[in-house]
Amino acid sequence: MRIFLSGFGTVGQGFAEVIKRRRDFFEDKYGEQPVVVGVIDSKTFAVDQKGLDLDRLVARKQEKKGVSDETYSDALAVMDSVKYDLLIEVSPTDVETGGTGLKTIRHALECGKDVITVNKGPLALHFHDLIALAKKNGCKFRFEGSVGGAMPIINLCHENLKGEKISSIRGIFNGTCNYILSKMDNGQPFEQALKEAQQLGYAETDPTNDVEGYDAATKVVILANSVFHRDVSFKDVKITGITGITPDAIAQAKSHNMVIRLVGEITETRLEVAPRLIPIGHPLSISGTLNIAQIDADLAGPITITGRGAGKIETASAILSDLIAIMSMRL
Ligand code: HSE
Repeated sequence: MRIFLSGFGTVGQGFAEVIKRRRDFFEDKYGEQPVVVGVIDSKTFAVDQKGLDLDRLVARKQEKKGVSDETYSDALAVMDSVKYDLLIEVSPTDVETGGTGLKTIRHALECGKDVITVNKGPLALHFHDLIALAKKNGCKFRFEGSVGGAMPIINLCHENLKGEKISSIRGIFNGTCNYILSKMDNGQPFEQALKEAQQLGYAETDPTNDVEGYDAATKVVILANSVFHRDVSFKDVKITGITGITPDAIAQAKSHNMVIRLVGEITETRLEVAPRLIPIGHPLSISGTLNIAQIDADLAGPITITGRGAGKIETASAILSDLIAIMSMRL
């Protein structure tokens, strides 16, 4: 399995660490290691058909910002300069244009390569086009980590719950906001909690996307299109973020045994992201970077899952699950 890795920030470096930690697993199960033959970040690139030394690239990136001294002007030309089987696209999310991620994903699928992504921009903007392109070219296209980080909601709905009619999903889909709100529950100021979430690698490159609710809305769009087979976009979601939540509002909630959480909802009639009052002890009153989803399925009834919605290794664990699924299909 030859991998081209697009994006070498928090998640890309997390993936490098995760495949290193699973060396024995790959050896035992497949008799081979996945090899990364190309890496690009926003400006620089490194390629080696025999496989790159990811430890060295991580050290280089942390020391000097780029993965090498070599810069590129055309990401697709770098991709074409090596032979690979799978694109892992983890460059920063751009929900306005789809950014580099949209170009690299399209290019890989057009070239008949499988794709794994956690990049929410291309998925939220062009979901059905990308699925059709993957189908036309016989490629696998998986995106577990795009919603809920380590919480396995996409593949749960697509695989285990395939025979169900899902009528609604309600949950917490942004780890940064949940981290901030739970820190505010303990009296920490908003700005300080946001700064921590950024330092810990939970927040988006532009954290406005987190705190204004846009990131959670992106996930609502991805779920609506992929699980509910709808054809909706960002503008169909009613969005309210958490920037208006004051310490006083948190204290008021607390005095009524409640917390405030940013909740996303997908129902037949409603796509919405908004702060909600949640009774303490209710499943949605979770703290820290945890995400949660309450799924209503017609045969199974209510199903609730929770897991860490953001973080380097946590998000990389979702990529690993997609990688293993693809490698297993090839056996
Ligand atoms: N910034 C996102 C979050 C990352 O906090 O949930 C995972 O999509």
